[in-house]
Amino acid sequence: MPIAELDEEIVSHRLFADEARARVVFARLRAEDPVHLTQAKGYPPFWAVTKSADVAEVERQNDRFLNAPLVFLLDCEEYAQRMKDTNGTGQYLRTLVNMDGAEHRAMRGLTQAWFMPHNLKRLDALVRSRATEMVDLMARTGECDFAQSIAPWYPLRVIMSLLGMPEEHHPDLLRLTQQLLAPHEDQQQRSSADLERAKKQAFGAFATHFQALIAQRRAEPRDDLATLLVQAQIDGRPLGPQELLGYFLIVATAGHDTTASSLASGLLALLQHPDQLARLRREPALLGGAVEEILRWASPVRHFMRTAQEDYVLRGRQIRKGDYLMMCYPSASFDEEVFPDGHLFRIDRTPNRHLAFGFGVHACLGQHLARMELKAFLAEFLARVEDVQIDGPVTLVASNQVSGPRHLPLRYTMA
Ligand code: HEM
Repeated sequence: MPIAELDEEIVSHRLFADEARARVVFARLRAEDPVHLTQAKGYPPFWAVTKSADVAEVERQNDRFLNAPLVFLLDCEEYAQRMKDTNGTGQYLRTLVNMDGAEHRAMRGLTQAWFMPHNLKRLDALVRSRATEMVDLMARTGECDFAQSIAPWYPLRVIMSLLGMPEEHHPDLLRLTQQLLAPHEDQQQRSSADLERAKKQAFGAFATHFQALIAQRRAEPRDDLATLLVQAQIDGRPLGPQELLGYFLIVATAGHDTTASSLASGLLALLQHPDQLARLRREPALLGGAVEEILRWASPVRHFMRTAQEDYVLRGRQIRKGDYLMMCYPSASFDEEVFPDGHLFRIDRTPNRHLAFGFGVHACLGQHLARMELKAFLAEFLARVEDVQIDGPVTLVASNQVSGPRHLPLRYTMA
């Protein structure tokens, strides 16, 4: 089968609902055409970059390969609708992920220190209490669909607590995030333009939630991330309303579907590798390594795009100014050159230079928080939940943006 026949799969959301197939497709691309010109019907052409070193080479040169205007691949119909709805900018709201250069540096600098481990340490008790609540919830029933009733709620509650968002807003914010990050799931019958319209409405609904929070923090500042943002200044001026909303939106959305997908994928991987689960129970000191392996294995952010600002040769392929490049993180995390036994799930893997959090100046702002959440949950889970069995069909979310298990039915006893 010629490599070009993979093009329809590379752009397909459904590819990520079939993990085995996704691994085969990426392994072939890495072996035969690692920087692959993808020309799928209904999509703009782009280069699929599948090897770890190449993803890093592109992301390291953030002045040559920009995040603006778009970081997720859109089909031609979605693209046309997006450009129409955004007066040609491609963005409903400017957020960190779409910014470049000095603007990105200044905006990221506002919260960079807040997201570093030395600051996050003081949130440890809060994160652990959220993990305890979730395992308490599991304890009530002895069975659950982990991917539906636990995984999405835990990071949502953590990030919303950090932002200080009242609990009654949480369910709606979860629904809106899923609409933005996995819009094709359960909506196969809708046209691309309809999906774009739904996304626009979701942005509007997010704005309503956060505007209320912003007004509240202005009136009554607290010691939380929301207050930090509301009081933040760049060159002596406070952030404008759109800048603030963009910040809230990116922290809120980037912070939970990703972590939820990693958590559910990680638990699934441990259950599918009982020797690794047993070893983790015996040797809790391996928890940090297990979390890194879970992140590598899950790589739930399926891609980000970059746009070339100048001609460039990448692994012998001539990239032209204006070309679009897809950073295939799940592929990079299985690259044989970095992980010769990458097909094995090994909680003691060292070093573990995965690219689940990306690379360079845009590398995940919340990565230390995500690690902290995963560790806190797994520690609580391993201490209290025993005899865990997969108890029904496991399915995966069909999205090439952020995805992981859709259903993970479990049966267990409590210690
Ligand atoms: C960016 C993955 C959790 C906030 C990113 C990127 C990836 C990623 C791949 C793009 C990196 C690049 O372009 O090189 C993940 C994964 C997570 C996770 C796998 C969970 C396991 C979080 C959390 C937060 C967060 C908990 C915040 C609370 C962000 C932000 C950006 C980002 C703000 C944009 C950074 C920028 O463009 O400067 N993340 N993320 N993420 N992430 Fe995460």
